[in-house]
Amino acid sequence: MKHGKNFILGEYVIIKKPDLMDIGDNVRIADFCRISSACKIGDDCEIAPGTYIAGGDGEYTFDMGSFSSLAAGVKIWLSTNDYVNELVTHSVPEVKEIKGNVKMGKFTGIGTNSVVMPNNDIPEGVTIGALSFVPSNYKFEPWTVYAGQPIRPIKKRNKANIMRTLMKIGYIDENYIEKEALCAE
Ligand SMILES: CC(C)(COP(=O)(O)OP(=O)(O)OC[C@H]1O[C@@H](n2cnc3c(N)ncnc32)[C@H](O)[C@@H]1OP(=O)(O)O)[C@@H](O)C(=O)NCCC(=O)NCCS
Repeated sequence: MKHGKNFILGEYVIIKKPDLMDIGDNVRIADFCRISSACKIGDDCEIAPGTYIAGGDGEYTFDMGSFSSLAAGVKIWLSTNDYVNELVTHSVPEVKEIKGNVKMGKFTGIGTNSVVMPNNDIPEGVTIGALSFVPSNYKFEPWTVYAGQPIRPIKKRNKANIMRTLMKIGYIDENYIEKEALCAE
């Protein structure tokens, strides 16, 4: 398993494919997590207790941008049985599954006990409330808070305050904010 500095790995964590884990600096994977997928985890990320990242057979990847979190009990699926069209079993090779990457941009967070289905690109600054369900192929807007089953947008995230915090810790400077403003024009 490749990881950067200050990596904290909790107790009773099961990592099925350590060769497919690429982890940045200052990351914590807490107790009782189970990870069987390929993962690319940025810097300053937290995976809280009892979180599962499953499926994808190493062919698909869970990608987590820096300064992001999965709260306790989150379930991320990179593959799932097709509950509408197929048998729901793992013992029959003919059964087709729904598969895809799950990507979280920088500064994102997923609330406790939420479920994320395959094939989702969660852009920068998005958070998802507790107990939410994220269906496959959901179309997100950056810097928006979503919640519900299935999720719906509920409000904008306080990007200005988050940028101030990132400036305080020296992660970004005035130039970053100016560049962002130009990009948004
Ligand atoms: C999503 C969240 C951030 C919103 O917080 P908030 O700003 O206080 O939300 P509000 O109370 O203004 O709610 C706005 C609307 O969203 C709904 N809502 C809020 N959280 C929701 C949730 N988790 N699931 C479904 N709906 C939710 C509210 O019922 C309300 O709906 P309405 O406008 O129809 O009345 C918060 O509720 C949440 O779920 N936080 C997750 C935190 C977490 O998991 N922490 C774990 C440890 S880090």
